[in-house]
Amino acid sequence: MTTTGANTAFSDDIFPSYVRNERFKSWFKDIIALCKPERVHWCDGSQEEYDQLCEQMVEAGTFKRLNPELRPNSFLAVSDPSDVARTEERTFVCSRRKQDAGPTNNWMDPAKMDANLRGFYDGTMRGRTMYVVPFSMGPLGSEISHIGIEISDSPYVVVNMRTMTRMGRKVWDFLDGKEPVLCLHSVGAPLAPGQADSSWPCNPVEKYIVHYPENREIWSYGSGYGGNALLGKKCFALRIASTMARDEGWLAEHMLILGVESPKGEKSYIGAAFPSACGKTNFAMLIPPKGFDGWKVTTVGDDIAWIKPDAEGTLRAINPEAGFFGVAPGTSYDTNPNMMDAIRSNTIFTNVALTPEGDVWWEGMTPEPPPSLIDWQGQEWTPAIGKETGRKAAHPNARFTVPATQCPVADENWENPAGVPITAFIFGGRRATVVPLVYQAVNWNFGVYLAATIGSEMTAAAFGALGQVRRDPFAMLPFCGYHMGDYFNHWLQIGRSLPNPPRVFCVNWFRKDAEGKFLWPGFGENMRVLKWITERVQGKASAIESPLGWMPRYEDIQWDGMDFSSEQFNQLMSVEREAWKQEILSHEELFERLYDRLPKEFILMRELILSSLWRSPEKWELASERA
Ligand code: OXD
Ligand code: MN
Repeated sequence: MTTTGANTAFSDDIFPSYVRNERFKSWFKDIIALCKPERVHWCDGSQEEYDQLCEQMVEAGTFKRLNPELRPNSFLAVSDPSDVARTEERTFVCSRRKQDAGPTNNWMDPAKMDANLRGFYDGTMRGRTMYVVPFSMGPLGSEISHIGIEISDSPYVVVNMRTMTRMGRKVWDFLDGKEPVLCLHSVGAPLAPGQADSSWPCNPVEKYIVHYPENREIWSYGSGYGGNALLGKKCFALRIASTMARDEGWLAEHMLILGVESPKGEKSYIGAAFPSACGKTNFAMLIPPKGFDGWKVTTVGDDIAWIKPDAEGTLRAINPEAGFFGVAPGTSYDTNPNMMDAIRSNTIFTNVALTPEGDVWWEGMTPEPPPSLIDWQGQEWTPAIGKETGRKAAHPNARFTVPATQCPVADENWENPAGVPITAFIFGGRRATVVPLVYQAVNWNFGVYLAATIGSEMTAAAFGALGQVRRDPFAMLPFCGYHMGDYFNHWLQIGRSLPNPPRVFCVNWFRKDAEGKFLWPGFGENMRVLKWITERVQGKASAIESPLGWMPRYEDIQWDGMDFSSEQFNQLMSVEREAWKQEILSHEELFERLYDRLPKEFILMRELILSSLWRSPEKWELASERA
């Protein structure tokens, strides 16, 4: 750890000797003169540094140390109520040409944005420490990894980045001859001399999360929270990395990666994309249910995958992150026992509730809430108060930050620098109607089409009409750093370049019956679908042709340990012709938005699906097809 005293005008000797990257050095001189910090701290990534910063935040009131007997070495932070989630409306992709950002991103001319931002950053770190955080996304030295340097005035960011990335002194040694992604973050709350700091400094008025894809720079201002501030995650590993991947022929995706191993030791790795709030983390850590003795599911990653073709044309994937930044509410020993075990120690909790014993709680963690709590806003909370006021004990987007090494089912190859070979992709949304439990695209191109048109119904909590479908192509709508039409073309192009591309599947765990009851129990039972998928990939499982692609029959799924009739299954798998015609026609809305760069293949594929629906019965069912 190196800390340098106050200076804005300084000579080259401010740089520790191991900092040699010329691009970084000249950028840093500009940034320090602009931000005017009180001091500079060069992070070494050590445990001592982490402990010291946590202690400093306990003293400042940002962190509360949890009961060491219940949650050793763990802390609770509560944020400003205005700073609780990613701010998509304040997120910009400032490519040189507007059409390269595309219609799904906010855009401003980069020179204008730069001039605008410099006004905000001028003196933004007065009275604060500037932390220099070198980090690698992916194992250090991997061909698939990339390096970033984040400059931040938030110690909360530093400790979270240490868990979420490979962060520390040794990163500099891997930078020679490489171009780092340069990341600037400020909470936007300078301190006047003698001014007391708040426990969660941020700027309640101005927030900007800005990406310059051509320069590979990220400038984030005003927020200290999650994806707005931990710049390695959504900003670098998805928005900037997706543009790098487009230029260099690989994929940066909003995907979990899991391994599935049969009792005979046959192993497959799968990438799966689901929009936020569809249970990605739970799926990545699934525990096989009764009847699946000897089957194992292991976790490589829960949120982001970087995937590159190797010399043989196999897609190899790494998880660029080193930790999980998971949503706490809804996580329990029922939904995700592995994660519950992972977060027993060394975890930072943000915006959850505090129990009188000094432990944490959130909605859904236990069937009954404890009799009394301190809620995420520091107020007394009881079940009666919750009922009366509708106030939640934990914020719905409350998080835990935990090292991936603590995951009890971490895959043996999760840090393999060569990545793991991907043989299937799964795409899913949250659909109460229309979409069957599982089907396989007839080929790569159809898979790309299906992934591009995946959607979720609005829930009561989200903005928009209830039941209305929000298209979230590849679960990348908020994360693709360039024109979505170009992104679809890039996926098609990757498929053309592979001798044997992975198989593509769609799933929907959320279909409901006429009474609004879920038709599928989900969680561990998803293993039954996963097994069929892996066996399809290995050429071992049967399927029949449906209007949408290949589908398992009742007898193609293993039902041991679950009481589920063929009638129930067939209801879950049925394809209603009129509903699907409407579904396909509604893709038009997305296609029109992306019209100038939409792959021409999509128009033809839409026609092909329509024509296959045309000849199908009003309600297509597996049983009737077999008869
Ligand atoms: C996340 C998200 O935080 O997808 O992972 O919003
Ligand atoms: Mn995510």
